[in-house]
Amino acid sequence: TPVQMSPLLKIHQDATSFYHHVLLTTQAGERGMKYARERELSEELLDHFQIGYAPNSENVLLTYLRGKGYSDDNLAKSGLFIQSKDGRLFDRFRDRLMFPLGDESGKVIGFSGRRISQDKTEAKYMNSPETEIFTKSKALFHFSEAKKAARREGHLVLYEGYMDVISAYKAGVHSGIASMGTSLTDQQVYMLKRTSRNIIVNYDGDDPGVHAEERAAKMFQQAGGFNLGIVVLPEKLDPDEYVKKYGAEKYLEEVKGALSPTDFFLKRLAKKYNLKNDRERITFLSEAVKQIAQLSNPVEQDLYIDKLAKQQGVSKDSLKINLMRERRRLF
Ligand code: UTP
Ligand code: MN
Ligand code: MN
Ligand code: MN
Ligand code: MN
Repeated sequence: TPVQMSPLLKIHQDATSFYHHVLLTTQAGERGMKYARERELSEELLDHFQIGYAPNSENVLLTYLRGKGYSDDNLAKSGLFIQSKDGRLFDRFRDRLMFPLGDESGKVIGFSGRRISQDKTEAKYMNSPETEIFTKSKALFHFSEAKKAARREGHLVLYEGYMDVISAYKAGVHSGIASMGTSLTDQQVYMLKRTSRNIIVNYDGDDPGVHAEERAAKMFQQAGGFNLGIVVLPEKLDPDEYVKKYGAEKYLEEVKGALSPTDFFLKRLAKKYNLKNDRERITFLSEAVKQIAQLSNPVEQDLYIDKLAKQQGVSKDSLKINLMRERRRLF
């Protein structure tokens, strides 16, 4: 017997096709198409990600879904509508490019809508509220597709935004997912752990992005068992902007050149000091050795001590003595 799909899932499936259809084939969708073209979203990408357009109307989606026979009770529970005090329903998403958010098996459970208008008082992205089927802390954009690609590519790549996943996809990274902003959750880390131990984090190259990479790296390390790579893009670019500016090939090189967490942390640390000043350099070296002392693998310790010695023009032996002292203090 076929599994009965819950009404909320059906509503999302129908809303996804509706928005997609509006974008691609209707007059009302032309505004959306113009924006999609500006963002270099080809029809192939619009199809793969099932992107759509919510027209600037109070009730087109409502009317459409009522016509399909859904009860107002289920429509209210779907999160796709806002409800006035007297109980009337209105389309929540208006004049937005619609990104469907899927669960682990690819069934749509919510949406995020990109503002198209220049009105900066409106949120750039509007997300579905929490519902029976949508939990923000567990949502991962493109997860079901990325899981399949991860088997081929050998890793998952974590992004901040939908457009980053999409441009990376265009560049050849099909294992991209997005955590809906920079606030990665423990639930998401757990979901990733069951999928791939090899994770590459590629948040935006701006300060909040790199800061969030630091936080994410600590969360993955805390969870344990991950082999982590961290990409820091130049010029504060996000992956979408980088691909558009430098092209697919250069982008894939950035991914290949992902830093180990230790390299990432040491680089961040070095930025805090004026290394031309001896006093500051000495402080940096002792902080760096403290970092390296945290590593449990002696081969890894040796590798980074060696690198640090060469970079800073000091002897490996003296750094090693400090490393031993630090490890005795720690353990
Ligand atoms: P960014 O501000 O980096 O946006 O937020 P973006 O992805 O580069 O967006 P574009 O390129 O201007 O379209 C990263 C992510 O944070 C979430 C979204 O998931 C977004 O992709 N976000 C951001 C929200 O949920 N709401 C917002 O208002 C802004
Ligand atoms: Mn694919
Ligand atoms: Mn950002
Ligand atoms: Mn961004
Ligand atoms: Mn962007």
